[in-house]
Amino acid sequence: MKTHWLIGGLAGVFALGALAFVQGGDTEGAEAAAETGQPIGFLHNQHAGAEPGQNNMNCQYCHFSAERSVDAGIPSVASCWGCHQVVAGQTEQAQTEIARLRGYWERGEPIPWRRIYKISDHAHFPHMRHVNAGLECQQCHGEVQTMGVLVERDPAWGGNNMGWCIECHRQPDPVTGEAQASVDCSVCHY
Ligand code: HEC
Ligand code: HEC
Ligand code: HEC
Ligand code: HEC
Ligand code: HEC
Repeated sequence: MKTHWLIGGLAGVFALGALAFVQGGDTEGAEAAAETGQPIGFLHNQHAGAEPGQNNMNCQYCHFSAERSVDAGIPSVASCWGCHQVVAGQTEQAQTEIARLRGYWERGEPIPWRRIYKISDHAHFPHMRHVNAGLECQQCHGEVQTMGVLVERDPAWGGNNMGWCIECHRQPDPVTGEAQASVDCSVCHY
């Protein structure tokens, strides 16, 4: 099992070899992690940002089920560990946070991330329908690739307000002129 991840991890690092793996690290927000209740100071910008020194990873590398499932999915500890058993961090801050990740891996525990985006159970939101319709993650979740520790919803997110969903569904389809998506109660409430 460990050997398997060692190979996976090295392969992952080599596959991403063209990306800048570095240096200086953007530690902004990591301090706040403990205070805000995220168990590890995971920085989206450091992994998904395209600035120098950031790793420019595709969102769906980690949220791999967004285009085929209702849930976008949160990556497992194993998928983090594929890189982090070789990437131990350059700054003291990074090393401390990555050591926490190691702890979850060694104990075989899932990381108890705090959930941020959630709608009530009486409504249903299928990611795959939206992603396959060509919507960008950022339209609903904001510029995640520029953010440090995620603690709050993007101000433009309206998922707990039905009007936000309906307003976009009512937009005319450029070809048919009809609503681009259904506003029947039963597509969202069942
Ligand atoms: C290296 C893996 C990785 C990459 C790449 C990544 N994410 Fe994440 N994402 C996570 C993890 C881990 C969490 C849970 C911790 C947190 O909320 O920050 C998360 C949480 C989220 C959440 C909040 C989920 C919730 O409701 O709790 C959103 C939204 C999100 N990511 C969007 C994105 C977008 C958009 C991108 C691309 C710009 C992206 N992610 C790239 C690992 C990743
Ligand atoms: C493709 C490889 C890769 C994957 C997968 C990956 N990381 Fe990273 N991560 C990195 C690199 C590279 C750094 C920068 C380390 C440095 O140079 O200090 C980093 C930095 C970090 C840091 C240090 C933050 C700081 O304060 O500087 C944490 C914590 C972290 N990653 C957690 C995670 C978690 C949790 C996951 C899984 C959801 C994950 N990583 C997945 C490559 C990866
Ligand atoms: C049309 C708006 C919209 C788009 C586009 C969208 N999301 Fe979401 N996202 C939501 C809503 C609404 C929720 C809450 C769903 C729920 O509670 O069932 C959510 C929840 C999440 C979560 C929380 C955990 C989960 O598995 O649902 C993650 C992670 C996430 N989105 C990532 C992404 C990523 C990555 C993309 C792009 C590939 C994306 N989202 C595109 C609206 C959107
Ligand atoms: C930014 C625009 C946008 C927002 C915001 C949005 N949607 Fe959608 N939604 C779409 C589009 C476009 C489609 C049509 C996809 C297709 O044709 O397959 C769709 C399709 C759907 C479907 C499938 C409908 C069917 O006919 O089976 C459901 C269910 C759904 N959305 C729920 C939601 C919910 C719940 C929310 C709010 C939490 C929401 N959507 C917010 C654009 C949006
Ligand atoms: C495109 C998806 C969608 C459609 C279509 C839709 N709803 Fe909703 N509805 C939602 C979402 C999302 C919420 C808010 C969930 C939350 O609070 O997190 C909601 C909330 C509600 C609530 C709770 C009170 C409120 O306003 O927050 C009621 C009642 C409701 N809807 C009834 C209906 C009825 C009746 C219809 C048909 C006329 C309908 N909905 C059509 C997505 C939808």
